[in-house]
Amino acid sequence: MDSLFPCYAGCAFGTEGLVARELKDLGAADVSAENGGVRFTASGNQLFTCNLWMHFCDRLFIVLRDEPCRSFEQMFNLVFAVSWNEYFSGDESIDVTCKCTRSALMSPRDCQSITKKAIIEKIRHSTLQQTFPESGASLPVHVTVRNDQAMIMLNTSGTALSRRGYRTWNGEAPLRETLAAALVQLSGWRPGQPLHDPCCGTGTILAEAALMAAQKAPGIDRTFAMESFACFRSQDFALIRSRTASLMDPSRVKLISGSDIDPDALELARRHIRQAGFSPDAVRLDRIPLQDLNLDSEDGVFICNPPYGVRLSDQKQCRDLYRDLRLLKERHPTWRLCAISSDPAFERSFGGKAAKKRRLYNGRLECVYYIYY
Ligand SMILES: C[S@@+](CC[C@H](N)C(=O)[O-])C[C@H]1O[C@@H](n2cnc3c(N)ncnc32)[C@H](O)[C@@H]1O
Repeated sequence: MDSLFPCYAGCAFGTEGLVARELKDLGAADVSAENGGVRFTASGNQLFTCNLWMHFCDRLFIVLRDEPCRSFEQMFNLVFAVSWNEYFSGDESIDVTCKCTRSALMSPRDCQSITKKAIIEKIRHSTLQQTFPESGASLPVHVTVRNDQAMIMLNTSGTALSRRGYRTWNGEAPLRETLAAALVQLSGWRPGQPLHDPCCGTGTILAEAALMAAQKAPGIDRTFAMESFACFRSQDFALIRSRTASLMDPSRVKLISGSDIDPDALELARRHIRQAGFSPDAVRLDRIPLQDLNLDSEDGVFICNPPYGVRLSDQKQCRDLYRDLRLLKERHPTWRLCAISSDPAFERSFGGKAAKKRRLYNGRLECVYYIYY
């Protein structure tokens, strides 16, 4: 039987519940959410499947050690205790990242170099390997020290899972793909129902909705660091990948559309939707100010990420736009409207209290996701 690993899914604050539910649906065990992440247990094959399928989380880790740590000596011993040669086969580049919060050890740089030193010492000690060319694939090791508790982890994803591969150019203030997917999920929209983003920019919300409708795994077009870990050499990840790819059906992408006033952003949206694997007519895109938008579908869901007016000079214009969103909603009384903003005056400018609100982070910016039925 495949060995089981204690694992951790790192995610943005506010999305832990979505990540936990998705992990359970994918068959992970012992799922428990905490601030900014979710713990779970999974086999190598399950972890690979999760890397392919997870829409909302940033990275998936194998937890190698999780213990109190208040000194560099303790950190060295903690890292040295791991059997690194199970994961390392001789030429990988050992890439250590580190994050310290509210702890005696507060220098990520020092923790990083102690960790790398302890890994190399341990491999020297247990395999007699003396030189480390680091010319092969990456072995990404991530260390967090939080409240004097250190977690030594292997990053199985490699680059963040938000990097699906379809977004190659960024417009003005694009949304991270994982947050866009969370907005679609939290809106209550279901594939087959009309969905329109009236400020679609480079099309991230639309591309994520199309992936969900087509049952296309968001990670299918990219690779993951775990594919070159020594302990997974005998695993048939190619078979899992091809079975996952066979589930995709682009003909299920229907009634997803977007509009914006910026022609350059719309050009990028077209490119991103095509690069996500969909034909140009699968998602309709139009240059229309939301003030003039009139859709003829009976009901549907507007999902949008309007400008926030973070700079004072833009604030008035953005607040006028929030009022125009209410007018859009009034022209489409049977449609649901969902919008994310960091502006505390959103509801006042919109002119009505949302039926549901959810605190989410767009990068470091604290935002609220407002849902009007
Ligand atoms: C924060 S960006 C959206 C980014 C988008 N979610 C993405 O992933 O690229 C806000 C968008 O609203 C658009 N916008 C601003 N005023 C508008 C209006 N009156 N009607 C339609 N779109 C508008 C801007 O052109 C910009 O593309």
